[in-house]
Amino acid sequence: MGSTAENSAKLRAKLATLDADELEQLVRKHNALYWDEHAPEIDDPTFDKLVEALRKARPTSQVLEQLGEQKAAASPFGDVVHERPMLSLDKCYDDDALLKWATAIKGGFFMTPKIDGVACSVRYDAKGALAQAATRGDGKVGDDITANVRGIADVPKKLTGVRAALEVRGEVYLRRSRFDAVYKGDKANPRNLAAGALKTKDPKESAAYGLSFFAYDLLDGDAPGGGPKTEADKMVRLGKLGFPVLPFRHFDDKAALAEGFRAMVEECKQLDTETDGVVVKADSVAEQDRLGITAHHPRGAIAYKFQGESAQSTVRDIEWGVARSGALTPVAIIEPIFISGVTVTRVSLHNAGYAKKLGIGPGATVEVVRRGGVIPHVERVLTKPDRSLSQPKKWPVVGGFTGVHLDGDFLFLDEPERSREVVVGRVKHFADVIDAKGFGDKVLTQLFDAGMVRWPADLYRLDVNALAALERMGEKSAQNLVAVIEGKRKLTLPVLLEALGLERVGATAADKLASTFHTLPAVRTASVEQLADIDGIGPEIADAVVRGLKESRALVDALLEEVTIVAPELPSDTSHPLFGKSVVFTGALAHMDRKSAQQRVQAVGGKTPSGVSAELDYLVIGDEGSPLLGGGERSSKHKSADKLVAKGAKLAIITETDFLKMLG
Ligand code: IVH
Repeated sequence: MGSTAENSAKLRAKLATLDADELEQLVRKHNALYWDEHAPEIDDPTFDKLVEALRKARPTSQVLEQLGEQKAAASPFGDVVHERPMLSLDKCYDDDALLKWATAIKGGFFMTPKIDGVACSVRYDAKGALAQAATRGDGKVGDDITANVRGIADVPKKLTGVRAALEVRGEVYLRRSRFDAVYKGDKANPRNLAAGALKTKDPKESAAYGLSFFAYDLLDGDAPGGGPKTEADKMVRLGKLGFPVLPFRHFDDKAALAEGFRAMVEECKQLDTETDGVVVKADSVAEQDRLGITAHHPRGAIAYKFQGESAQSTVRDIEWGVARSGALTPVAIIEPIFISGVTVTRVSLHNAGYAKKLGIGPGATVEVVRRGGVIPHVERVLTKPDRSLSQPKKWPVVGGFTGVHLDGDFLFLDEPERSREVVVGRVKHFADVIDAKGFGDKVLTQLFDAGMVRWPADLYRLDVNALAALERMGEKSAQNLVAVIEGKRKLTLPVLLEALGLERVGATAADKLASTFHTLPAVRTASVEQLADIDGIGPEIADAVVRGLKESRALVDALLEEVTIVAPELPSDTSHPLFGKSVVFTGALAHMDRKSAQQRVQAVGGKTPSGVSAELDYLVIGDEGSPLLGGGERSSKHKSADKLVAKGAKLAIITETDFLKMLG
């Protein structure tokens, strides 16, 4: 058996030559490998192609009726009959197919990541106690896995504020970070491991896997008012009941779906779970009911799946780059391949140690994966390289070369501060974090070459005349740059800490350090033990902070001569009419763009959820062409809000002018 990528490529190549009997046999085999054995040998898109070919060759094939998990006759688990069948989703792989599906839908759309885990139904009784949990099974009858689901911390054992029995459906999965830390190297992927863990006979053993859960559906027809009427409202309610819910977006119109999909793909990357696509639904439950279901799936929802996640290619060359840490990173330049919707030509090999372990070099055939649409990664070398990897022994810097040395898996420059790439990278990071606009790679490279900037503190010493004398700069740009940096002489502690670019200290760690120690001297004198004690920091980051602050001592001192550390601006005016209120915008705003409007609300302590729900305080209808001012059609958000108001929700529908008055 080859790798999933190899098997998939082989199968695709011979697909057209297969007859209906062969197709039936293969579909049956790969369905069982995925669902029953949790050990797929081909990737999802190839399986879908196989099914498609069978559907064409023998549309009435019984095998097509038996897709999905088949209940084993001798299952050690009891049966659970689903009150409503657990269907699967229809799939598409490109914008055209998505938009074709969307044509039949009336009203707005709801979009959320599709988690590559295991479907699970959890029932609660009228008192809110977890009563029963089941797998999807064949869609009608699943396995009783109540004892194992009780071991999942994310699944509440008791709900409050429940007046009738309800069912929550969602996806059980293994966090990517947990998989990487504990199970990597295991043949299974996170999904297959989660499926196996859920079917473990001993609940203690099952709990030890540390599974997680995301809720995506709520069957709560007996709730007062018949339960949430939109997918977005379901999410809000599920969140309030204590379930982890997925990020979601609402779209008034299908025209925004393709762009929305791409934005959601970005959000998928932030999740600590594998995703294999994006789920798009009619937001309104009534619209879903109107559209009904086919034998296999609801018409009101679709999975826009990522393209094949792995492919083979040949390495043309290995290039080395230098990161702002001063580490040299090898990059494989490969024959272009198309994975998960993008063409990949360069793949980072992370560090010298990883590249060496892989045994990569020019001429090698490699398997490249882009799991969940994330950054491509060379999983393994399939055939040996023509030439082995050569590591740089020196690196060009200002005025000559610097040596390199190995530290663990990493190859570092001996004198990183002499390297243009390193300095520009560090100063650019500083400028980005303090939000100094105009200091991009080009300008900073120019400043470096002119000897004007060697570290971030130099930004505060730039001189208009010297700047204006640079090529392609001009008086006006020079004045602008100096004005921007002058406006950044007051920095909050978390911003300064993040801007220093210490290894492992991003925005989250910087926030934690600042909110624990309050002052820079306190952070600078904290011990590894004190730092490691902070929730979410841990010994490795603690060690990096102490080491990083020691190495950056001179820079921090130089910066303190230029900037003052100020307290973060909290919306202190709790009496502001929008403080603690939630505001959603719809329609074209005449006075500002939507993003600025949302930022203004947040700045005065308000919230800006993405959709209209009964909990919303204000729906602002843009003045431009506003139906409130006698203009055009009501948007679907506007209509949802009208309905909520009719039902007595506290929500107020206001004009942009009203909003601006409230904002002051
Ligand atoms: S909605 C008709 N939302 O994908 C089922 N499903 O083939 C509608 N899945 O069995 C489910 N993430 O297990 C929905 N955000 C999400 C999901 C999701 C993963 C799974 C689910 C379902 C399968 C669809």
